[in-house]
Amino acid sequence: MYYAGLIITDYNREYKEIILKNIITTNLNMNISMFYEKKDKYKTIRDLTYHISNVSVDLKNKNENKQDIDIAAFTYNDAKYIRREMQVNNEDLYFIYLYLCLYSEDTKELEFNLDKIEGLLQSNGIQTRRANFRQEQLFLTCTPMMKNDLEIKNASKRNILTSSLVSTYPFISSSIFDENGILFGNNIYNNSLIFIDKYDRNKYKNGNMCVFGESGAGKSFSTKLQILRYRLLGVDQYVIDPEREYEKICKKLNGTILKIGPSSETYINVLDIREESIEENKGYLSNKIQKLIGFFKLIFGDIDEEEKAIIEEKLILTYKEKGITFDDDTLYNKSDKFRLKPEFKNTSQMPILEDFYNVLGRDERTKIFQIKLTPFVKGSLKFFNNYTNIELDNPLIIADVYELGEENLKYGMYIFTELFWDKIKKDRNKKKAIYLDEIWRLIGVTSNKEVASFIYKIFKTIRKYGGSASAITQDISDLFSLEDGIYRKEYFK
Ligand SMILES: Nc1ncnc2c1ncn2[C@@H]1O[C@H](COP(=O)(O)OP(=O)(O)OP(=O)(O)O)[C@@H](O)[C@H]1O
Ligand SMILES: [Mg+2]
Repeated sequence: MYYAGLIITDYNREYKEIILKNIITTNLNMNISMFYEKKDKYKTIRDLTYHISNVSVDLKNKNENKQDIDIAAFTYNDAKYIRREMQVNNEDLYFIYLYLCLYSEDTKELEFNLDKIEGLLQSNGIQTRRANFRQEQLFLTCTPMMKNDLEIKNASKRNILTSSLVSTYPFISSSIFDENGILFGNNIYNNSLIFIDKYDRNKYKNGNMCVFGESGAGKSFSTKLQILRYRLLGVDQYVIDPEREYEKICKKLNGTILKIGPSSETYINVLDIREESIEENKGYLSNKIQKLIGFFKLIFGDIDEEEKAIIEEKLILTYKEKGITFDDDTLYNKSDKFRLKPEFKNTSQMPILEDFYNVLGRDERTKIFQIKLTPFVKGSLKFFNNYTNIELDNPLIIADVYELGEENLKYGMYIFTELFWDKIKKDRNKKKAIYLDEIWRLIGVTSNKEVASFIYKIFKTIRKYGGSASAITQDISDLFSLEDGIYRKEYFK
């Protein structure tokens, strides 16, 4: 590796821009070393005053030749300016030393880069000098040893006031560094590391994210890295995994994998009403029915308003037969004398798909829907027809819906999304995240309005529950396709 150094010898005093901005964004290999020495204020003002009075005597002396007078006048004004800034505007005086050390494996390239940097700096009013015969000293000065070598120090020394000092700040906005953030990757323009704290509400309105990229671009991979890093920060995380990609990371982190499918022993009852599912200004049952209409539309396909009304009626009836009505009190078991707080009904007291199936069968008008529901109750998908038998108390839960197969993935994704959503709402003080990989299955053209608006609601309100939602998909157009793209607005806020 070859090294070559530049000493910055002078600056344009009026320069108010960040002076290093153009260099940092060049993305060339280089180390930058910067030293500041703060001068004692009282002593500086005293010295300046002494100097000013001396020079003013010179200026009055007409015997001097013309040229000297000009220089004396210049330093006189300069010193007066500095003194005024320090006394009136409360600024401090610093000495600044700035060195650049470029490196490359190829001397030609190094020479080229040196020229480039010199040109850049000069066009910004910054004078440089090559560190000829002092390369070693400069190289050492640019190592992180806090050693400003005497042999080059004097060439670089310039004074600077506080307000100009600000313009030498090197960590400029082209890098994002949030204090409690996790590493997201490198800035492609200048290689700086990007740390983002998506839970920082002072900086970001919400913690939602979209990950886009073509197939194989690394969307799922980077999501896994995020999961790993947020795990270290104690964030509860939920993943909808349609491709069975998150199994390994889940095992490594002792997470829970929930599977539904023909070979799985875990069941989730889509008709469950969970205590934490309560929404503002809405009863349990009406809220549940709205979500169920979305789910059944995935199964029944497009239904018109009349059919929707009939299905709603049948759902209400199904719950009524289990003693659940729009009165939220019916969801609690009568408290006995030993228990002060009434207990929320558990999953075994809820209807399951078969109950709904039977209700549909009793009416000629809904026979057709009963037939469409048959695979879910008696056929290949009958694992949907069961009481819930899972517990959700792990900081990492992966919902694996892979076994459902291409056609039926969306049912599983929907059920898990709803389950996770209720879980997320439980404790507002805990940080949490939900990742929806291959989200197009839920909000793309093959989905429906109710499902999309449910996902939309998650993105809109998860912030209030201390959460963040990530949508991962190959194609932006997924978000534009359903219902003429009315949902894309929300995802891009
Ligand atoms: N930064 C990386 N470092 C090393 N390997 C990576 C990186 N990013 C992705 N890969 C690898 O590239 C492959 C594809 O990545 P990944 O599965 O994340 O793509 P994807 O964007 O999710 O694709 P798809 O849309 O098809 O799901 C994986 O084998 C993954 O291990
Ligand atoms: Mg993927």
